[in-house]
Formats: sequence, C-alpha cells, structure tokens
Amino acid sequence: MTATIRRLKAGESYPWSLLLLADPHREIVESYVSKGSCYVLQQEQEVIGVFVLLPTRPLTVELVNIAVAEAYQGKGYGKKLVLEAVRMARESGYKTIEVGTGNSSIPQLALYQKCGFRIIGVDLNFFQLHYPEPIMENGMVCRDMIRLQQHL
Ligand SMILES: CC(C)(COP(=O)(O)OP(=O)(O)OC[C@H]1O[C@@H](n2cnc3c(N)ncnc32)[C@H](O)[C@@H]1OP(=O)(O)O)[C@@H](O)C(=O)NCCC(=O)NCCS
Repeated sequence: MTATIRRLKAGESYPWSLLLLADPHREIVESYVSKGSCYVLQQEQEVIGVFVLLPTRPLTVELVNIAVAEAYQGKGYGKKLVLEAVRMARESGYKTIEVGTGNSSIPQLALYQKCGFRIIGVDLNFFQLHYPEPIMENGMVCRDMIRLQQHL
C-alpha cells in the first residue's frame, strides 16, 4: 500500500489528533497553524501523518508539527515527510528551512540531522517559559528548544 502526501484542502478539518502528538497544547497550535500550509500523509482513506510549513521571515519557512500516527512510526514515514517538506520549501523558493525540537527529543534530533539539518542555536528555557506543565521525555526534563536549520 502506498501512502501519498497532499496539501490539506480549504475547508477540510485539521487532523488534530496528529497535530497534538507533536505539540499537546491545542491553544498554542491553534495560534499558528492557520498561518501555515498543512500537508497530510494519506494511506487509502486514513490520514497517518502530518506536517505544517509556516513562513516566519522573508525567504524562511519553519517545519512545525510533524507527526506520524503511533501505529505507523518507525517505518520510514517520518523521514519521508521531513525530506518532502524540505523539497517543497525549496520548490516554493524559500532559501532557508528551520525546525525546533526539545533538548530531550533524541529521536527527533537524529531524524532532522539525518535529513540535512544542522544545529544553529538553543532557546534556553523555552519550554519552561511557554508551557504550563513540566515535560519529561526519555528520562529528562524538556527545558530548552534546539534550533536546527538547512540552506535550500
Ligand atoms: C518524530 C516522528 C515524526 C518520526 O517518525 P517515524 O515515522 O517514527 O520516523 P522514521 O521511521 O522515518 O525514522 C526516523 C529516523 O530517525 C532515526 N532515529 C530514531 N531514533 C534514533 C536514535 N536514537 N539515534 C539515531 N537515529 C535515530 C531512525 O533510525 C530513522 O533514520 P534511518 O531511516 O536513517 O534509520 C514520530 O516518531 C512522531 O510522530 N513522534 C511524535 C510527534 C513528534 O515528536 N513530532 C516532532 C516534534 S519536534
């Protein structure tokens, strides 16, 4: 079975369960998701993945809210989505693509670097300042946002 990536059509509802896998705070996601372009990975009638490309500065776009449904994780779909996001950003004329993830998000840090991103900075205490409850992941407190970037 092949899964295909397509842009969400106008008026189609967002795949909230997937968007909230990447960021469980709906109000925070709602504050930016409509400003970006949402893409879904679809297998037959089922949406199994999502990502959003959010323009941030001139010629720069941020990859946000990438997620693969839990039953489909670890099968290469995440990498397919990241590489497709990079390709789409390049084809749309952007010169830089950025992504951010938590200091404790070890698989995500691996995935982004395997797809060509490099670490360019750290937003110290980002998660402690902007999220209501402490986040624990892989036995660590998620405190800082690791910023990664790729030139297109
Ligand atoms: C992050 C996520 C999208 C990845 O999707 P996935 O389909 O499980 O990922 P893939 O199967 O494509 O694997 C990703 C790559 O990371 C690698 N990887 C994962 N953990 C790793 C580790 N600890 N060390 C090294 N590589 C690792 C995998 O080996 C794979 O690379 P490869 O193809 O070269 O072997 C998915 O786990 C998810 O939806 N998580 C919840 C939401 C989330 O955290 N979103 C990101 C917010 S920043």
